Amino acid sequence: MKVLLTGGTGYIGSHTAIELLKLGYEVEIMDNLFNSKITVLDRIEEIAGVKPKFYKVDLLDKEGMDKMFAEGGYDLVIHFAGLKAVGESVEKPLKYYENNVGGTINLLECMKKYGVNKIVFSSSATVYGDQGVAELTEEMQTGVGITNPYGETKHVIEEILKDVAEAEPEFEATILRYFNPVGAHPSGLIGEDPNDIPNNLMPIIMKVSTGEIEKLKVYGNDYDTVDGTGVRDYIHVVDLAKGHVAAIEKMKPGISIFNLGTGKGTSVLEMVAAFEKASGEKLPYEIVGRRAGDLAEIYANPGKAEKELSWKTELTIEDAMNDTINYLKHLKEK
Ligand code: NAD
Ligand code: UD1
Repeated sequence: MKVLLTGGTGYIGSHTAIELLKLGYEVEIMDNLFNSKITVLDRIEEIAGVKPKFYKVDLLDKEGMDKMFAEGGYDLVIHFAGLKAVGESVEKPLKYYENNVGGTINLLECMKKYGVNKIVFSSSATVYGDQGVAELTEEMQTGVGITNPYGETKHVIEEILKDVAEAEPEFEATILRYFNPVGAHPSGLIGEDPNDIPNNLMPIIMKVSTGEIEKLKVYGNDYDTVDGTGVRDYIHVVDLAKGHVAAIEKMKPGISIFNLGTGKGTSVLEMVAAFEKASGEKLPYEIVGRRAGDLAEIYANPGKAEKELSWKTELTIEDAMNDTINYLKHLKEK
């Protein structure tokens, strides 16, 4: 099977490329390299033994996309490409709608023109908004109480995919709602290496440990959680990558939606403690006020993916911390 990964040089796409290549899938990658580096392709080759064919194309470049699809002969697309900086999306909403929603429409048009009916889409737990409960299941109503344009783009794209599936009986779309991806490949060769200032917890912890950021600001310790700090479901990126393989092996006509998470919540201070234990270093932090739009506690109910995709997570927070520290060592040596 020939699979196109949009955004495939990015954090989650590159790990997924490796899992697919290991199983003998033919993989091609397109990316505009806005938030990733071309050298990732060499790292993928080092790990998986194959260097995927690469197109430096922007989702918004209709001509470039058409040319790629004309050459491609793809059976399936995994659509990772998108902008994901929540804070920036609040400041530049049009950029986010244009890139994420407009880009997806261009992609779907190309798929239709070239007879590609199968797509797996990178969605996010953010589409659930505030449900008033911590454990989230796929049948909950989405799209209410989303607090930023980034999250809205994920919701809108989900709705577009549902409409296309309604209109075209042969269309197969699997929406994967990721919880909080963390960790790196155990080889230490690839991981999360954002080009700009991160706003998610794990990349900030990484930058505090390297001294690029002075200390971690913990956003609130007065939530109704185990220690007052926010609780999330952190999933190792290799488990997440394997979730994509499981999903493409079970594609069926219409829309399928799965949470990809561990089912277990971890607090910010538990993450700090896990990083300190794995690294043997103190991680400087201070408690500050709550971040606007944050929820106290959310985690996945991953039961549907386990039942229907025969997939569940195998790696732990400790594995994620060890792999992140190993990756940081490789980054320093480069
Ligand atoms: P990433 O930034 O590492 O990867 C995304 C890739 O898409 C980047 O390489 C970027 O250069 C590329 N890209 C962006 N806009 C493009 C465009 N117009 N044309 C071509 N390429 C473009 O991010 P990631 O963490 O690997 O996330 C992958 C997907 O998963 C994204 O859609 C993201 O929104 C979603 N997601 C991520 C998280 C997370 O915490 N990492 C959580 C939930 C959902
Ligand atoms: C955030 C986004 C969400 C997006 C997700 C993945 C917000 C409000 N939500 O979710 O839309 O889908 O990232 O990209 O931005 N924390 C700190 N200090 C920090 C950073 C984070 O204490 O410097 C805490 C947060 O308060 C939270 C936890 O760490 O409790 C995880 O934060 P983060 O990594 O940003 O993920 P989410 O809040 O789940």
